[in-house]
Amino acid sequence: MSRPLALSRLPMSIVQISGLKKYFDAVHAVDGVDLAINQGEFLVILGPSGCGKTTLMRMIAGLEKPTAGTIEIGGEDVTKLPPRKRGVSMVFQSYALYPHMNVFNNIAFPLRAQRRELKFDKRAIREKVVSTAKLLEIDMLLDRRPRQLSGGQRQRVAIARAMVTKPAVLLLDEPLSNLDAKLRANARDELKDFQRSSDITAVFVTHDQIEAMGLGDRIVVMSEGKIQQIGTPQSIYDDPANEFVATFLGSPSMNILSGNGFRFGFRPEHFLPKTLHDNPENSRLFHYYVKRVEYLGSDRLVYGYLRGSEDELTLAKVPSNVRVSLDIESDYEFAVHNSDIKFFDKATGGRIAQQNLAQAHT
Ligand SMILES: Nc1ncnc2c1ncn2[C@@H]1O[C@H](COP(=O)(O)OP(=O)(O)OP(=O)(O)O)[C@@H](O)[C@H]1O
Ligand SMILES: [Mg+2]
Repeated sequence: MSRPLALSRLPMSIVQISGLKKYFDAVHAVDGVDLAINQGEFLVILGPSGCGKTTLMRMIAGLEKPTAGTIEIGGEDVTKLPPRKRGVSMVFQSYALYPHMNVFNNIAFPLRAQRRELKFDKRAIREKVVSTAKLLEIDMLLDRRPRQLSGGQRQRVAIARAMVTKPAVLLLDEPLSNLDAKLRANARDELKDFQRSSDITAVFVTHDQIEAMGLGDRIVVMSEGKIQQIGTPQSIYDDPANEFVATFLGSPSMNILSGNGFRFGFRPEHFLPKTLHDNPENSRLFHYYVKRVEYLGSDRLVYGYLRGSEDELTLAKVPSNVRVSLDIESDYEFAVHNSDIKFFDKATGGRIAQQNLAQAHT
């Protein structure tokens, strides 16, 4: 940072992105993004591979020049400013640590690169490196080289290196994807704790919906360079704006079926034997043919189809503590709570108001 931002004078949104585009010839990597990032929030950008997440982050960091649009940080238009003048640090998926430098020198690197501008002497640099390392609990590793560290420790070094200049915004591009499942859960937990206690604004990119749901104060769902929906994890899951968001979140994915001139969907966990619904008046009944049942420990995953929609595979996720017997190649009465059925425009995939379901399914 060339000028420290006075926190009290910051607007509510620390980053304001307007009409942002990045075209690589015919590839519209980012295609008209408007986004306000709030001070102190943990914002997750979620979307499939190639939807433009990294390109968006690189433009915020100043590593990529936008084709169109503007980026404001702390109330100032930074669209044309170089990366080091933006008060933003980025942690890359690969961590990109310098292998020949020990941890201390890796963390000190950005301070030394800006030493003249920031007027840091040797002692100031040492103090900053040590205090940042302590914050991330890697102060006992300062003499080691990156190859002598575990994946989780490397990640913390990469975060320390990004934090040491006290950026206003920390950009994290899939930093956990190199870790195994257990380490990843730990790292996720640590990262969230650290973000909360330091009150930094974090933008975290992932294509893993579980990670997104667990970490994000808000989630931005992207597809093909465009924002599909922005909201809290729960609002995005319960109230998806369109069919893409509805099916991208949730595992297994939401069942989508054809109605009369529209499409509708419900989640496998909301599709349960009729006897489990206490108020049949608020529910929609379906005749369900069970083809196959998988035992997944905590749930039974049921594969079948609705009578009248024999060519559309429909799944039910029944918790194991529900002792209803479900035999294969048999018909059952299942039901979905009316409010758990979502309706979509056949052409655009956008959410539409509740429609009448044809009798065909019942
Ligand atoms: N320098 C470049 N030149 C040409 N095309 C590019 C360049 N960088 C990215 N792209 C293209 O832009 C699109 C978006 O890429 P981007 O890296 O932003 O996706 P992503 O969402 O980060 O994907 P992933 O989850 O796989 O990392 C892709 O189609 C990609 O091939
Ligand atoms: Mg990427």
